Amino acid sequence: MMKYFVLIFIIATIVSGCSVKVNAASILFNLHTRSMQSPQAGTSPITEVGPPQPTEVPSSLPLFYYNQTIDHFSKNSGNFLQRYYVNSTFYKEGGPIFLHTPGESGIDPIIPTSSFVSDLAASFNGMLISLEHRFYGESYPPINDLSTPNMKFLTIDQALSDFANFIKYPPKELNITKDSKWVMVGGSYAGNLATWMRKKFPTLVSAAYASSAPIEAKLDFFEFDQRIAKALPCAQNISDAFRFVYDPILLSGNETAILELKQQFGLEMLEDNKDFASAISHPTASIVQNYVQSPDIPDPILSVCAPFSQVQSSSPETSAFIYAEGVKAFLNLTGIITPEDKLAKFATTSINTKEKNDLASYTYQYCNELGYYQTFPKSSPISTRSQIINIDYYQGQCDFLFPGITSSPTIKKTNKKFGGFNGKFSKTVFVNGDIDPWTALTVSSESANPKVEKDTIFLIKGGSHVTDFAPPSPSDSDSLQEARVFVFNTLVKWL
Ligand SMILES: *[C@@H]1O[C@H](CO)[C@@H](O)[C@H](O)[C@H]1NC(C)=O
Ligand SMILES: *[C@@H]1O[C@H](CO)[C@@H](O)[C@H](O)[C@H]1NC(C)=O
Ligand SMILES: *[C@@H]1O[C@H](CO)[C@@H](O)[C@H](O)[C@H]1NC(C)=O
Ligand SMILES: *[C@@H]1O[C@H](CO)[C@@H](O)[C@H](O)[C@H]1NC(C)=O
Ligand SMILES: *[C@@H]1O[C@H](CO)[C@@H](O)[C@H](O)[C@H]1NC(C)=O
Ligand SMILES: *[C@@H]1O[C@H](CO)[C@@H](O)[C@H](O)[C@H]1NC(C)=O
Repeated sequence: MMKYFVLIFIIATIVSGCSVKVNAASILFNLHTRSMQSPQAGTSPITEVGPPQPTEVPSSLPLFYYNQTIDHFSKNSGNFLQRYYVNSTFYKEGGPIFLHTPGESGIDPIIPTSSFVSDLAASFNGMLISLEHRFYGESYPPINDLSTPNMKFLTIDQALSDFANFIKYPPKELNITKDSKWVMVGGSYAGNLATWMRKKFPTLVSAAYASSAPIEAKLDFFEFDQRIAKALPCAQNISDAFRFVYDPILLSGNETAILELKQQFGLEMLEDNKDFASAISHPTASIVQNYVQSPDIPDPILSVCAPFSQVQSSSPETSAFIYAEGVKAFLNLTGIITPEDKLAKFATTSINTKEKNDLASYTYQYCNELGYYQTFPKSSPISTRSQIINIDYYQGQCDFLFPGITSSPTIKKTNKKFGGFNGKFSKTVFVNGDIDPWTALTVSSESANPKVEKDTIFLIKGGSHVTDFAPPSPSDSDSLQEARVFVFNTLVKWL
C-alpha cells in the first residue's frame, strides 16, 4: 500500500510539471534478464544485435579451421579460413552429421556443447559441427575494412556454397565417410540457410531443421511491431504514450522539447531523433523476442505491464512516464549504462565499418538481400513504436553505412530464388513460436502457403525466438517439450 502511495505521489508530481528526482525504476519494471539468452537471441536489424559475448571454450571442444574458397562463382579467387567446432562425443561411424551455423554471429560453444541441438545430435549418435558463416566472428576473407566493395562476397549464395563445399569435401581429420547423411540446422536467419541448403543442394543435405526462420524477405516488416503489441497486455498504454506524448514532441520540430524528452529517458546523447525513437522501442522488442517462462523469475511480460495497471491515474501522460522509467530500468539492467554504452548500442553512426564485426556484416546482409525493416505499422490502431520509424530510417542507415549498395534490398530476387512464403521445402522440419515477432515471416505465418510434406511444422504455444534450441529444462512448457519430440520424431523418419 505504502509503495503504491509513494508511486502515485511521484507520478502526480512529475506529471504536474515539477521535476523531482525519483528512483521508481525498481518498483516499476521488475525485469530480470535471462541467465542464458536464447541461442539466437538478438537478430533483428540494428537494435537487436549485440556484440558477441566472450565465452569460455570448454577445453574438450576442439576448434578447427576449414580452408574455404572466397568466391565460389569464379576461378582462383583465393582462400580464407572458416572456423568450426566439433562435438563427436556420442558419434558412431555411420551416424548422421549435423551441420549447424549460427548465421549472423560468431560461433559460440554453447550450441555444440549444451543445447537441444547437441542433445539431438547425440541421440542419433551423430556428429555436430558448428561452422561459422563467412564475414562473422573470425571467418573473414582477407580485407582491411568493411567498405561496400569489400563486402561483395558476403551473399547468401556464397554462404550456401561454403556449406556445400564443406559437405562435399569434409575435413579429413573428422573421418567422415562418403555415405554419411548430413542434416543442416539453424535458427533465425541461419534457419533460412538450413531451409535453403536442403532446397538448393538436396543431394548433399538429407534433411534440415529450421527454427524461427523468416524465410520470406520483406522490406516493410511492420508485422514485427504488430506482433509485439499482440504479445503485450499493456500495448494500449504504450501505444498511447507514443501517439499522444512522444510522437507529438518528436514531430513538433521544437528542439528544446525534443531534448527534454531524450533527457527523460537518459538518452540525450542520441542526436538523431530516429535513433532515439528506435532505442526506446528496443526494450519491449527484446523482452518479447527473448521471452522465456521460468519458475525462477517473474514473468518478463507481466513485469513490464504490471505498473500500468498499478496506478489509479489513467492517462497517456501517466503511461508515458511509466514507460520512460521502465526503459531506463531495462537499459540499466542490461548493462547499457554509460553514454558511451548507449551511443554504441543505438547510434547509427557508431556502427563500425572500419573493423570486422558481426553487426556491420548483418546490417550489410539485410540492407542488401533481406530487408526486415521493422517499421511503425501504419494501419494498426496500436503500436509500440514511434511513427518516425519508417522505411526511410532503415534505408538511410544502409546508405550511410554502405554507400553505393543497392538502392533497396533485393527482396523480390531473394524470394524468387528461395521460394519465400510459397516455397517448396521437402524434408525440412520447421519450429516457430507463437509470440515470436519473427513468426510473421515464417512458414507459420497466415500469409504463408509453402508446399511441404504433412506434419513438418510446429508452432510452440508461448514460444519466442528460437526457444527450442535452449537446453531442455524441467520447467519447459508442455508445448516446448512437444516441439522437441516432434523434431526428433520427424528426423527419425528421414534418417
Ligand atoms: C588452402 O588451399 C589453397 C588451395 O588449395 C592452398 O593454396 C592454401 O595453401 C591453403 N591454405 C591453408 C592455410 O591451408
Ligand atoms: C556433446 O553433446 C552432448 C549432448 O549435448 C554433451 O553431453 C557433450 O558434453 C558434448 N561434448 C562436448 C565435448 O562438449
Ligand atoms: C579420426 O580418427 C583419428 C584416428 O583414428 C582419431 O584420432 C580422431 O579422434 C578421429 N576424429 C574424430 C572426429 O572422430
Ligand atoms: C518548445 O518547448 C519548450 C519546452 O517544452 C517550451 O517551453 C517552448 O514554449 C516550446 N516552444 C514553442 C515555440 O512551442
Ligand atoms: C492502461 O490501459 C488500461 C486498459 O486500457 C487502463 O485501464 C489503464 O488505466 C491504463 N493505464 C494508464 C496508466 O493509463
Ligand atoms: C542500476 O542497477 C544497479 C544494480 O543493478 C542499481 O544498484 C542502481 O540503483 C540502478 N540505477 C538506476 C538508475 O536504476
